[in-house]
Amino acid sequence: MNTNMNTSLSRRDCFGVAATAWSGFAAGDETERARRMQWWHEAKFGMFIHWGLYSVLGRHEWVMEQEGIPVAEYEPLAKKFVPKPVPMREWAKLAKRAGMKYMVMTTKHHEGFCLFDSKLTSYCAPKQGAGRDLVKEYVESVRAEGLRVGFYHSLMDWHHPDGARCEKDEAARRRFVDYIHGQINELLTQYGKIDVLWYDVPWPLDAAGWESEKMNKMVFGLQPDIIVNNRNRLPGDFSTPEQRIEAAKGAAWEACMTMNDSWGYHAADDAWKSPKTVVRNLVTCARQGGNYLFNIGPTADGSIPAESVKILTAVGQWMDRNAATVRGADVCTVSRSNYCGFTRKGNTLYVHVHFWPGETVVVAGLTTKVKSAKLFASGKPVKFTQDDWRVKITELPAAAPDNPVTVIALECDGEPKQDMDRVRREKPRGGV
Ligand code: GLC
Repeated sequence: MNTNMNTSLSRRDCFGVAATAWSGFAAGDETERARRMQWWHEAKFGMFIHWGLYSVLGRHEWVMEQEGIPVAEYEPLAKKFVPKPVPMREWAKLAKRAGMKYMVMTTKHHEGFCLFDSKLTSYCAPKQGAGRDLVKEYVESVRAEGLRVGFYHSLMDWHHPDGARCEKDEAARRRFVDYIHGQINELLTQYGKIDVLWYDVPWPLDAAGWESEKMNKMVFGLQPDIIVNNRNRLPGDFSTPEQRIEAAKGAAWEACMTMNDSWGYHAADDAWKSPKTVVRNLVTCARQGGNYLFNIGPTADGSIPAESVKILTAVGQWMDRNAATVRGADVCTVSRSNYCGFTRKGNTLYVHVHFWPGETVVVAGLTTKVKSAKLFASGKPVKFTQDDWRVKITELPAAAPDNPVTVIALECDGEPKQDMDRVRREKPRGGV
């Protein structure tokens, strides 16, 4: 029995769904994993940051490959990447204001440029234009806001000479795997306690080629409290559906998403998500026991695009009033409505109305008795009736009382559940 384990934490609360073992470090030790992941499950909302030399060009983080830019032409960007002093302070303040609890920044994206001080390459910020360790600034800024620190690190590398030939050339594979393992070692020894390691794109090697078991073992040896994702081709602690919300069966998961259509800064990409979409996505993740990792792509000097600030500020204002309906939420099986999302804490069902229908809001098929109802943000009690088929909340304001989503809290006499099959089969039909 691990003495650090919070005994009030049930496995169900922690994983949302039954947990499974994975074959790596601490295999089968779900109590140990629950301890490491407790803060993360509670948090629900994090900030992803994609920042690198591609931010100088402003045409998406894949610009080097998508435009076929030769290394010799791309490399000089390293001299032009000169951020203003400690821009990460703004990021961390914005993340906090948005109600996020952790941040994950690219320490090296596929382009191969390292934002941290690496002894293994000169293609890193301290030895190039920036002349300073940007990961150090990031870590300090995140901690200053009381948030958890995450590192993204791309295994795929378009710059390292062995990055592609490692697939067929054993000597190259040896050098490249040593390089990547070595960098991960640097990241986890130079900056104190790190909370999340977020691997990305394992191309072109498989788990054996990457020596992923050994990689994770090293990671947990250096940082016993850390959590790792599944992109080094091992299941890790959580899976990472990208640009979509899809609950993993039997494991923890985090949906990551862009704010427009690009992860890295893309000056012309104006496909911004509305604050309403962001809140709805967060609610959808929280309902199914998942996390939402939402991205910003700062410009080369570290400024956050104005539209991103606007969107996250609006989300933060909503979170000021409603965060408690999302953070620490339990898995909620109530899901069906054309204008509401749902979350749950214990016996309380939170009805997140995103298309406000007017004076009456109806939820069908609840099999649990509703004891009381109120508008969550104001605490104002609201009238309701309940019969076999629906709960009808009545005499509500004609216009939505909160924006972009109004939350109505329904306190039930047991865990709120919904049976729409019964509604379809058993609700009396009329004559012909
Ligand atoms: C991808 C992309 C990438 C982005 C990442 C985030 O695999 O290659 O650019 O960093 O996913 O999930």
